[in-house]
Amino acid sequence: MSTGHNGGIPDEVIEAVLQHNDIVDTVGKYVHLTKQGKYMKGLCPFHSEKTPSFTVTPDRQIFYCYGCGAGGNAIKFRMEIDGLSFPEAVKLMAEESHIPFQDGKGGGVAPRDQELERLLQAHEWTAKLFHYLLKNTEHGKPAMEYLRARGFGDKLIDQFQIGYAPDRWDTLVQFFEKRSFDLKEMEKGGLLSSKQDGSGYVDRFRGRVMFPIMNRSGRIIAFAGRILGEGQPKYLNSPESRLFNKSRTLYNLNLAKSAIRKQGQLVLMEGFGDVIASWDAGVQHSVATMGTALTENHASLMRTLTEEVVICYDGDNAGQAAALKSIPILEEAGMRVKIALLQNGLDPDEYIKTYGAERFASQVIDGAVSTTKFRLIYVKRNYNLLEEDGKASYAQEALKVIAQLSSPTEREVYLRELSTEVGVSLESLKQDCNLMRQTLNRTRPQGQNGNRSSGNGNSRKAQGTPTLLPAYHAAERRLIAMMLQDAEAATYVSEHLGDAFNIADHAAIASYIYAYYAQGKPPDVSRFISSLQDDRLEKTATSILMMDTPHGDSTQVLQDCIQQIKKFPQQKQVEQKREEMLRVEKSGDFLRAAQIASEIIALERQ
Ligand code: UTP
Ligand code: MN
Repeated sequence: MSTGHNGGIPDEVIEAVLQHNDIVDTVGKYVHLTKQGKYMKGLCPFHSEKTPSFTVTPDRQIFYCYGCGAGGNAIKFRMEIDGLSFPEAVKLMAEESHIPFQDGKGGGVAPRDQELERLLQAHEWTAKLFHYLLKNTEHGKPAMEYLRARGFGDKLIDQFQIGYAPDRWDTLVQFFEKRSFDLKEMEKGGLLSSKQDGSGYVDRFRGRVMFPIMNRSGRIIAFAGRILGEGQPKYLNSPESRLFNKSRTLYNLNLAKSAIRKQGQLVLMEGFGDVIASWDAGVQHSVATMGTALTENHASLMRTLTEEVVICYDGDNAGQAAALKSIPILEEAGMRVKIALLQNGLDPDEYIKTYGAERFASQVIDGAVSTTKFRLIYVKRNYNLLEEDGKASYAQEALKVIAQLSSPTEREVYLRELSTEVGVSLESLKQDCNLMRQTLNRTRPQGQNGNRSSGNGNSRKAQGTPTLLPAYHAAERRLIAMMLQDAEAATYVSEHLGDAFNIADHAAIASYIYAYYAQGKPPDVSRFISSLQDDRLEKTATSILMMDTPHGDSTQVLQDCIQQIKKFPQQKQVEQKREEMLRVEKSGDFLRAAQIASEIIALERQ
């Protein structure tokens, strides 16, 4: 088997993986696609958007997003969506399609990915070790008692691979040393800390109950360690690392994703302890952020699985304020949002312990309210409705919320409720509300009609084509497009232009194209993209492939393009000389100016 520069994975395996994994099927598992001529379109899973600018081209077996520039072949898609390295993605896809695949040992994986692989391996072994120590040793006893007291059964402890890091400085240090792991690398990966005096390493997690954090495909990328009982910090988390990016990680997404698809809904919590309790209570489509505020990345990750989210944050003030902040982020990502209400400042975990699983599922989750209802409840906390003053002020605040709704029907529903609550006639509330809407519409920027309802009506126009490019730039893109689809065109360009592209990335792609055909391979853009192994080049190549291929005499087109490209450096030189000439003239050096003028004429003659 031949091996290219694809992280040591045999080309044959990559080809087989691409052959077995049609781009439409691959993407279709994550994105709802609709056919539109030669393309399939859908909402981009890699950035927040409400109108589709994400395209899949079956003919070429590639995907490309006009909004954020993400693009590539089926392997690239899995890498991005599942957070995998190239070898990981190929391996996973090979396994899924029953393609024989020998990894690492023989092939020699690229160094960068070897480090990633070692870190993943270290996390997996660490989790196993901690889990073992918790369940089978004296060290683990107090932690086990703590977990039991909190209602964690064996099944749950196994399912979430919970463990215990003993209260010692060197449990992991010794473990890694025995297995010849590089301690510095382990420190970078967040499992060890370096000693203050720089003389070596110690365990980062000591005397803590350990919760592994998995990525979407179930690989352990970090840990959260809880102190037994009281103390600070309550939770110690892994630092951000090559593996762990908090703003893209949702706890339990790996286990929850199938339930999320099935239910058509995702439950978003604040604490991962809440997620485990919820899972145990039979509500298995919940996930949590890892001690950070919700980000756009989280939201678009969720949006790849479902359109509906129930925010189920703690019932205290902080939780409710956080919920209020999360609503627009989720709505921006095109999701329908509901809010679960937990009384008495309870968190989901405490609620389940107090009122039981049944009531949690049927009342809290199924009884989640609309965002408007939630806003009204949130505003109401501040007023005493038993007093006339309180009622009047509340009505004023409530009207501000209701006035933002674009649907008259929705407004009427809430106004009716408000009317009974505050004892004011529906008619006068309506009048007030309409007055408020007039001011709202006047102050609001155009095109944004205060649409707070569930509809995703307002649209951002997707850019169909990139902005107009300078002639030489367009010519370079066109050449590359033709070379990718025609080996003879590539030969012609290699002979007549070589690497004399003006844009460095284009020159790089061209040299990859020459190398690709030199191996005797047939044109196949999806395979070619795999040979690039560079995110930026892949994006550029994919975006080039989204252009329409020109018709007509192709040699003529090639010649014209090459001419455009060659002309550019001269044009640039001429421009520079003109500027220089003006400068020299101004300074009075007319002899030099005349000299430059003749140089310009010579250049232009060429
Ligand atoms: P909470 O303080 O609500 O934790 O923080 P909890 O889930 O109720 O924990 P228990 O029940 O007391 O064990 C919510 C989330 O904030 C992050 C964690 O991700 C936690 O799940 N957090 C909290 C930290 O990262 N560090 C901390 O010290 C505290
Ligand atoms: Mn809790």
